[in-house]
Amino acid sequence: MELLYARNINKVYPGKVAYKALTNIDLTIEQGEFVGIMGPSGSGKTTLLNMVSTIDRPTSGELRIAGQNPYELTSEKLAHFRRRELGFVFQSFNLLDTLTVRENMMLPLTLGGVDLQEMKRRVAYLADKLGIEQILDKRTYEISGGQAQRTAIARALIYTPKLVLADEPTGNLDSKSARDVMELLSKLNKEEQTTMMLVTHDAMAASYCDRVVFIKDGQFYSEVYCGDNRPAFYQKIMNVLALLGGNENEFPTVRV
Ligand SMILES: Nc1ncnc2c1ncn2[C@@H]1O[C@H](COP(=O)(O)OP(=O)(O)O)[C@@H](O)[C@H]1O
Ligand SMILES: [Mg+2]
Repeated sequence: MELLYARNINKVYPGKVAYKALTNIDLTIEQGEFVGIMGPSGSGKTTLLNMVSTIDRPTSGELRIAGQNPYELTSEKLAHFRRRELGFVFQSFNLLDTLTVRENMMLPLTLGGVDLQEMKRRVAYLADKLGIEQILDKRTYEISGGQAQRTAIARALIYTPKLVLADEPTGNLDSKSARDVMELLSKLNKEEQTTMMLVTHDAMAASYCDRVVFIKDGQFYSEVYCGDNRPAFYQKIMNVLALLGGNENEFPTVRV
C-alpha cells in the first residue's frame, strides 16, 4: 500500500519575482519504506518536505497521505491529522528547554488529551527503545546533541505516526551521534514499520534508507535503491552526488 502519493506537485513562491521551487514532482512512498531526499542546497528539498508535512500548500498537484488529501481537511481537522499521523524531526531538535526530556516527550500527548497511564506507558516504551531512560528527568541543556535528537525522535513517535518526516536530523550532530541517530531511525523503521522520509545532505545518513530520490532545481533528477548491499549503496549515492555537481562544500560529509 502506498502511504504517500504525490503527483505533479508544483510550488511557486509568490513575491516581487515569483520563484518556481518545485516542478512536476511525483513521489510515491510505500507503507514501511524509508526514503531519502537529496539534492544541492536550494534544490527544493525542504519545500517538498513542507508540502508533504502540510506546513505549506502546493501551488498545484495531488497529494494523499494514507489515502487522505490533507488539504481537504478543515484547519482544525488538519491540526489533528498532523498531530496524530505525522511525526516531525528537525535539525535544530526544537525541544523546549524549560521542560525535562520526559515532559518534552509527553507534550504532544498533553495537547491531545491522552490519559496519564497511557502517556506513562508510551514514554516508558520509547525511552527504552531510544536508550534515554537515564536522562528522562534532565533538562535539555543538561544533555548532549545526540541525546537531544533522540528525545526529539521519541516525541515525534509518541503517537505512533504513520509517517515520520525528518529534515537534516543529523545536521547538528558529530559523526558518532549522527550514526547513532540513523541506526535508531533505521531500527524504528524496521521494528515498527514506521514509514520515513528523510531530507539530508549527508551520504552516510542517506545510506540508511531503502531508496534515495535526488532532486535538482526543483525537478526529479534520479533515484537509487539500496538492495542488499549497503556499502555499494553508499557508493552509488556518492556517484550521483558527484554527477549532480554544484559547490563541493554543499556535500562536506564523507564519513565512511
Ligand atoms: N518561503 C519562501 N519564499 C520564497 N522563496 C523560497 C521560500 N522558501 C524557499 N525558497 C526558495 O526556494 C528554493 C528551494 O528552497 P529549499 O526548499 O529550502 O531548498 P533546500 O532545502 O533543498 O536547500 C530556494 O531557491 C529558496 O531560496
Ligand atoms: Mg533545506
